[in-house]
Amino acid sequence: MLKLVQTRARSLALPRSTNTFAYCRALATSSNSASHVSVLGHDYPRDSHTNITSAIIHKLNKRLHLQPSHPLGILRTLIESHFPKFSAFSDMSPVVTPARNFDDLSFPADHPGRALTDSYYINKEYMLRTHTSAHEVETFKKGHREWLLTADVYRRDEIDASHYPAFHQVEGARIFHDTPNSMKEIEEDSTRLSAYLASSNIVIEDIPHISATNPVQPSHDSVKAELIAKNLKLSLNSLMLHLFGGHANVNEGEPLRVRWIEAYFPFTSPSFEVEVMFHGKWLEILGCGVVLQSTLDRANVPDSIGWAFGLGLERIAMILFGIPDIRLFWSKDPRFLEQFAPGTINTFKPFSKHPPCYKDISFWLPSATFHENDFCDLVRDAAGDSVEDVKLIDSFTHPKTNRTSHCYRVNYRSMDRSLTNEEANAYHDRVISELKQNFGVEIR
Ligand code: DAH
Repeated sequence: MLKLVQTRARSLALPRSTNTFAYCRALATSSNSASHVSVLGHDYPRDSHTNITSAIIHKLNKRLHLQPSHPLGILRTLIESHFPKFSAFSDMSPVVTPARNFDDLSFPADHPGRALTDSYYINKEYMLRTHTSAHEVETFKKGHREWLLTADVYRRDEIDASHYPAFHQVEGARIFHDTPNSMKEIEEDSTRLSAYLASSNIVIEDIPHISATNPVQPSHDSVKAELIAKNLKLSLNSLMLHLFGGHANVNEGEPLRVRWIEAYFPFTSPSFEVEVMFHGKWLEILGCGVVLQSTLDRANVPDSIGWAFGLGLERIAMILFGIPDIRLFWSKDPRFLEQFAPGTINTFKPFSKHPPCYKDISFWLPSATFHENDFCDLVRDAAGDSVEDVKLIDSFTHPKTNRTSHCYRVNYRSMDRSLTNEEANAYHDRVISELKQNFGVEIR
């Protein structure tokens, strides 16, 4: 169900365009009136679900995580180097079926993630993956038992300096044959990891592996599930040490602090979140758990048991490299890109921004439902990454007619060059005309 735009004033920062020409061409191939939408060289028929925008289509071939000198590529390599025996995948298409993204992972039919307001659909049959877990079943099915998978993922979201509709995740998983020999192998691995952590400068706040509120799966032997959860925790504690050790504290010599929190995901039980103390604040880093047996059954590995985790790369890269704004990851500005080198975590040095150009727009909300994400996507689609920020600056409800009008202030600012006032006007005209055309709103 679409919701009404919130009436509370807040910032909806939006991304900026780098290549206006290519961007306009992308728009042309996916205009609302066309019967098909072209995504990564394939034409898909539009239907009532189609909500993917050309601004998003334009991101699909960027593959930032494959660039060795990009912070996201550097971080991917660092994580892969921590799991040398794991197979590493980083080239899966972002186009998946809702079955892969949700059903394979036992998401309930009414899960909010499935809504058109939350996910990008190409049509009823295809969507953009909203998380790397979408590839769990197919990866296990191909016979991989210890693997990492890095990919771009897409979610319709409110936007600010730390949220962007496209971002990157790493999924990691390890499954064991449910045999006495394998259980011995896990115990040996856990003993080795425990010894390593005991000799390292790390303090871990743990919680029980299994509890009444974070239960073992009915089909699992609780002793085995405990062994798996313990191995998961040890593996991820040592990953946190690999990523953050020596980077997380202001004072040298202080231990890295990691804490475990009970969580819920539709596709794991027990489930956990991991937080790391960074410069005095707890930061959520990843989600993980013991893989649901139904997922492994679907993947044709029913006699296995194991763990999985998923982490967001941008969030970690922003912390480690000191990158203040998530939109910078998409910048082509050499002043950004040339600061980084393969295998090195260095602190980003901010450079001066190009000047902003503010334009206001007031309109009566359409009587049909209209979600804030719709306005956000519309502005981004019309102006691409040349929009830095959109703020709701006024909301007014007419006492007699009960109609509500909103006034938004759009900040047009390119990350790569100075925009002229004419260019900003052209973007703004486009926002106005798309708003009228797509939502039938009345401009004030
Ligand atoms: N896919 C989850 C997300 O995007 C993260 C996650 C949680 C991945 C638990 C996992 C897992 O593999 O076991 O929020």
